[in-house]
Amino acid sequence: MAWQRVASLSEIAVDAVLGVDVDGSPVALYRLANEVFATAGICTHAMALLSDGFVEDGKIECPLHQGQFDIRSGKALCAPATEDLRTYAVKFDGDEVLIDMEQQAEFTQVIPKPMPDRQAARNFPVTDTRTISATNSDPELALMKRYVWPAEGLTRIPDWVYTDQTIYEREVEKIFHGRTWNYVALECEVPNPGDFIRSNVGPTPVVVVRAADCSINVFENRCSHRAAEFCRELSGNTKEFVCPYHQWSYDLHGNLAGIPFRRGVNGKGGMPADFNAAQHGLRRLNVTSHRGVVFASYVQDMEPLQDYLGPEVLKEFEATFDGRKPRLLGYYRHTLPGNWKLYHENLKDPYHATLLHTFLVTFGLLVAGNRSLMLADATGRHGVMASAKSERKSISTDAKKEMRAYRDGMTLAEPRFMDFIEEFDSPWSVTMATIWPNLIIQREMNTLGVRQIVPTGPHEFIMKWTMFGFEGDDDEMTRHRLRQGNLMGPAGFLGLEDNEAIKFVQDGMRHVPGRQHLVKLDPAVAAGTSDSLISEASIRAMYRHWRAEMGL
Ligand code: FES
Ligand SMILES: [Fe+2]
Repeated sequence: MAWQRVASLSEIAVDAVLGVDVDGSPVALYRLANEVFATAGICTHAMALLSDGFVEDGKIECPLHQGQFDIRSGKALCAPATEDLRTYAVKFDGDEVLIDMEQQAEFTQVIPKPMPDRQAARNFPVTDTRTISATNSDPELALMKRYVWPAEGLTRIPDWVYTDQTIYEREVEKIFHGRTWNYVALECEVPNPGDFIRSNVGPTPVVVVRAADCSINVFENRCSHRAAEFCRELSGNTKEFVCPYHQWSYDLHGNLAGIPFRRGVNGKGGMPADFNAAQHGLRRLNVTSHRGVVFASYVQDMEPLQDYLGPEVLKEFEATFDGRKPRLLGYYRHTLPGNWKLYHENLKDPYHATLLHTFLVTFGLLVAGNRSLMLADATGRHGVMASAKSERKSISTDAKKEMRAYRDGMTLAEPRFMDFIEEFDSPWSVTMATIWPNLIIQREMNTLGVRQIVPTGPHEFIMKWTMFGFEGDDDEMTRHRLRQGNLMGPAGFLGLEDNEAIKFVQDGMRHVPGRQHLVKLDPAVAAGTSDSLISEASIRAMYRHWRAEMGL
């Protein structure tokens, strides 16, 4: 026998249910008039949490498929529930409720206190689903019980990771607003004092601005007064920001600089005398910049970006941003109907690249058998897909047979398109770095770009592509980068296919929901770096990190 304290009596409302976690097992506690009962916390039919269900006439109704159980005996009362619930013995120690999970309830436990009469009981608030989880001793546990990762571990990813609104909101809180450096801009987009550009940290709109002292500041695009998204232009140059609604104004550091009619009119109205403008500036984010790339974080004591990237990913970052000053070439911007993590996965999935992308395969940019690497950093959150370009003649007959996308004999009408002008100190002709949580750095031969992921919900994200070259490029090099840029973007020779594949995955989950994905390729590497392109080890590494960050 092992009696354990699980709640105090006052936590359990009359005619309601409270979910608690006892050594990893969910337990439902019920208080009916002056008695308390305990049963297993999960419905025997389909794994739903009974603490989110409804109590009526001594019965608990499962919130998922409305199976019902007798609270006292655990007996299943109606379809689809057929298997009885386990019950547990309950006793009291003063106001404390104790249960013994090794002992079934044989008799009811009468609360050893004068019990409020029925009328008084009716005044006790009957908890609803939300307040039940709020009164749980640890609401995190309720979440962990609802979102259960498959027993197979990282080789399976459940659909709720990509489709669930609660999970998405938790990602915004724990990841985008959590301990991460989020890409926001290139320094060359705000070269002069007063230059600004709108950006995002996760879905949250921010403004990136260079102040008179040349510092780069990032603050939320949300007025301190009534929350208006005050900065309306995508980019520009300004001396101050003035909210269009009531014209509150802010300086380039985000300080509140002016409030119209602050003292009212004719001695009437206006802000209270003790209003302190210094306390009502815009919410500022922590900012760092490396080799002309600007990042922001909601966390003020973030580690340096170099440490955040880790030595191997930093090396690849610095191979592309090699010290030359980036020069802006242009933008693409489009919406993708899929979960934002699918984009990371796409670039940690070299397997697809050898099969889906006819262009890559046919012209030898990424081919199974090429020298390649799928790198994951020590945490698993960042990655670099790297490959060395091969000549077409080196593709083996065996490989050709596996790749339906391969088109023998195709040539380009514009052969300069595939020219690779050596300019980087790197063994790789192609690298795609995924920097957690919102940045992709693309170096595909001589076409260079950063892609910013802006999630808008579980089913959609915006991609902002910023294509760049370097100061010092001559006209011919700039033309070459722009020409080769046709590989990428929403209609690029290979960007197009990824965009569609991501939509297909999201469609599959939405139309046949509640299932799991399989990520088993390359079992020799449990999770992490692999030198095979036929691998999903980097995706597994990313989800190892994601689960730790999400607490799931
Ligand atoms: S909402 Fe911005 S000034 Fe009122
Ligand atoms: Fe792709």
